[in-house]
Amino acid sequence: MPPGSAFAEVRKEIDRINQAAGSVEDFMWETVKVLHDRMLKYNWVGFYMLEEKTLDSQPRMLALGPFQGAMTPHTRIPLNQGICGAAASTGKTIVVDDVSLDSRYLACSTETKSEIVVPVFVRGKVVGELDIDSHFPAAFGDEDRTLVEYCASLVGKQMEKFAG
Ligand code: SME
Repeated sequence: MPPGSAFAEVRKEIDRINQAAGSVEDFMWETVKVLHDRMLKYNWVGFYMLEEKTLDSQPRMLALGPFQGAMTPHTRIPLNQGICGAAASTGKTIVVDDVSLDSRYLACSTETKSEIVVPVFVRGKVVGELDIDSHFPAAFGDEDRTLVEYCASLVGKQMEKFAG
């Protein structure tokens, strides 16, 4: 495959599964699989979804959703911790080129060198995020960011659609 065309091909595949998905959950599982299998530097790909607030005294938590890659020790992450917590609480995409230099970073694998986290919005509110780790430093450039933000936006739209 010529360099650069992976983005277009994967986007087409994501559009196809978006049309065909019978539920948001199916779409999320298929999305993480396509990104993990086709984007060679995406070594761990997963969603974290914001849990409903239970007690006022407890911070809200992100819970691991559909993912591809090795099991992570971080199945629940408080909103005030990690790069995941930072992306969800600010509602902004975070790209970290070298995780060893970011004091917020919660390690999932010792092999991880860089990370991107993109919030998922439903009607303007953060409901979760798409998190991708790479074994390569600075793996996430502008085209990656555009692709991952596109996938996260489709999940938000699907949630709006299926929620009615
Ligand atoms: N690195 C994330 C934790 C999730 S694992 O990467 C799967 C963080 O710093 O929030």
